[in-house]
Amino acid sequence: MTALDPRQRAWVEVSPRAIEANARAVCGHLKPTTTLMAVVKADGYGHGAETVARAALRGGAGSLGVATLTEGLELRRAGLEVPILLLGNLTDAEQLRTCLHWRLMPTLSTAEDIHLCQALSTDSGRRFSVQLKMDTGMARLGCAWENGAELVELIRSQDSLELCGVYSHLACADGYPDGDDGAFTQLQHQRFNSVLDQLPEKGRDVCCHLANSAGTLQSQALHHDMVRVGLALYGEAPATHLANTLSLQPALSLKARITLVRTIPAGVSASYGRRFVSQRPTRLAVVAIGYADGVVRALSGRIDVLHRGQRLSQVGAITMDQLLVDATDAPDVHPGDIVTLLGRDGEHTISPGDWSERCDSIPWEILCGFKRRLPRVEI
Ligand SMILES: Cc1ncc(COP(=O)(O)O)c(C=O)c1O
Repeated sequence: MTALDPRQRAWVEVSPRAIEANARAVCGHLKPTTTLMAVVKADGYGHGAETVARAALRGGAGSLGVATLTEGLELRRAGLEVPILLLGNLTDAEQLRTCLHWRLMPTLSTAEDIHLCQALSTDSGRRFSVQLKMDTGMARLGCAWENGAELVELIRSQDSLELCGVYSHLACADGYPDGDDGAFTQLQHQRFNSVLDQLPEKGRDVCCHLANSAGTLQSQALHHDMVRVGLALYGEAPATHLANTLSLQPALSLKARITLVRTIPAGVSASYGRRFVSQRPTRLAVVAIGYADGVVRALSGRIDVLHRGQRLSQVGAITMDQLLVDATDAPDVHPGDIVTLLGRDGEHTISPGDWSERCDSIPWEILCGFKRRLPRVEI
């Protein structure tokens, strides 16, 4: 192994093929007139935005969604020419001017946004493609849905603006909080539809979109003209009841090396806080990954790692750069060996959902939590 080998310590393996296959599977599930926007914000949910974007486009996605201006610029600078929607809100004229220059579509929520974009567009002599967001139940971005039709008309009356989309976002299509019976999603859908029904014919040629992964997997009625899919592209189901809707392949594995193996006698404590005390002579393997890499400390003592198809329990507090596993029953564990923290090894698979259930989180947060320190290795 050379000093520059990314597999020296701990790393994330990403399979562009899995992402491409997932995009293809999602496209195959859509209504024939619906297109796929691949949501690649937060560095492609930790997988690497450019890699994910290219794979998803190969799999049939037609556009990309990002959260921030910087994320959009990175993709443009990487040479991606497809439509890119900024899902976050921009706050000043300079940011919007940059959007216009790089053909990134901003999300607009207010009449002030609309007038500002019209002014910038007139100044530059270029048409500005924008999208209007309506709040149907997130109380986050977007105009009140009751004002949606009015703002659509306002945008359409600006000679330099091109309204490319009207959208909203579902708050609990994934069933969180547990037990949501879909009534709120239905209410949001009704509100969204009621605005679309008010649009005059010329307002209908815009792309209307509502569904995230959960909405997409749940019902074709939510598909409209486009769906914005993140989590499912990465191979994770957004909810257990949707796990069998499509056959998705996890695109990410998390791996790390064992750097030391030692045996401690019975009755010895290990790691910070002495949470683990050996009940028997115990072979401890030190794994070179910790919470500074994204292995959440709240998972201490609650996860396993996979070594040559065998599960080993993680013990003691997860520390910043290292964690311990009990290798007493695995005599073939040696320094330099690789363990899988997330992903498949032999018969076993450990998913981001397995982790999130154990630390009061969600798979989205687990995937986005892997830090820059972990090299991304394409496989
Ligand atoms: C506005 C918007 N649309 C779509 C998505 C994709 O969601 P998911 O990853 O659940 O598919 C997100 C992600 O948070 C989002 O913020």
